[in-house]
Amino acid sequence: MQISGKTKICAIIGCPVEHSLSPSMHNAAFQALNLDFVYVAFKVKRQELKEAIEGIRSLGIKGLNVTMPHKNEVIEHLDKLDPSAQSISAVNTILNQEDTLMGYNTDGLGAIKALKKTGLSLRGKTLLLLGAGGAGKAIAFQAAKEVKELIILNRTPKKAKFLADVLCRKFGKKIHGHNLSRKNTKNHLAEADILINATSVGMPPDEGRSLVDPNWLRPDLKVMDIIYHPIETKLVKDAKSIGAQVITGVDMLLYQGAISFEIWTGNSAPVEVMREATMKELSKQGVSH
Ligand code: ATR
Repeated sequence: MQISGKTKICAIIGCPVEHSLSPSMHNAAFQALNLDFVYVAFKVKRQELKEAIEGIRSLGIKGLNVTMPHKNEVIEHLDKLDPSAQSISAVNTILNQEDTLMGYNTDGLGAIKALKKTGLSLRGKTLLLLGAGGAGKAIAFQAAKEVKELIILNRTPKKAKFLADVLCRKFGKKIHGHNLSRKNTKNHLAEADILINATSVGMPPDEGRSLVDPNWLRPDLKVMDIIYHPIETKLVKDAKSIGAQVITGVDMLLYQGAISFEIWTGNSAPVEVMREATMKELSKQGVSH
């Protein structure tokens, strides 16, 4: 990598950011395409967000990823929002175009792209989504555009119901929100074509746990987990062992990154290069399979 006076800077801001996989993923992609870009991580505390965004403008930083705890609060400091971010009031990607800061959200789109890359179409399908937190909401908004039916189950049922009501009004489809009980999960899974876990169950301190009993899984089900730590959760392993097609959290991470890359550079992302760099970094950090 040859850094010059013209090198464009992209970065991730958040707290913590030390273990972010994005610097490895994006620098590998910039190098593979010989782009004069570099990607770094800035630890920005909650109370420092405003100054950090002013710094982005004054330093002319080209692109940003935004992670916890700033995904919602950053909005008030931006000039424009893409519908992907507007719909869920959360930004994970910023493009600085001639000093106009535009906010996007590539999380939901990344998840849908990862699903579609397996050859799956969402049209006419029933999706069971576990979780209505930040990631669940992002996925629900993108999926609702295409699926026939969406069922959202959440530990705090009012969040699932509220999200389902909003989506139902927006898209006029069969969208329901309920409590994440074993009974509801079992019953709705029997009707579903696709299952997505967007809860944190499966990663530490809940590693080795799954909200889905292996006996409820079927080989014709498509199963996605947004967790990438561990790379294969109990849910992913259970689904794989009965012959169901699985999509891991690494896939979602890659495609949300690929869409951000395309927003900043205008180039099509070298996804396999990004995958290799991400897997290498995960292994360096001791994340198990
Ligand atoms: P993220 O941005 O990764 O989605 P989040 O917004 O904190 O993180 O959402 C975490 C999700 O995991 C939520 O749906 C949460 O349920 P609540 O809304 O009831 O908090 C879900 N979750 C976390 N721990 C859980 C558990 N032990 N059982 C079931 N769901 C859980």
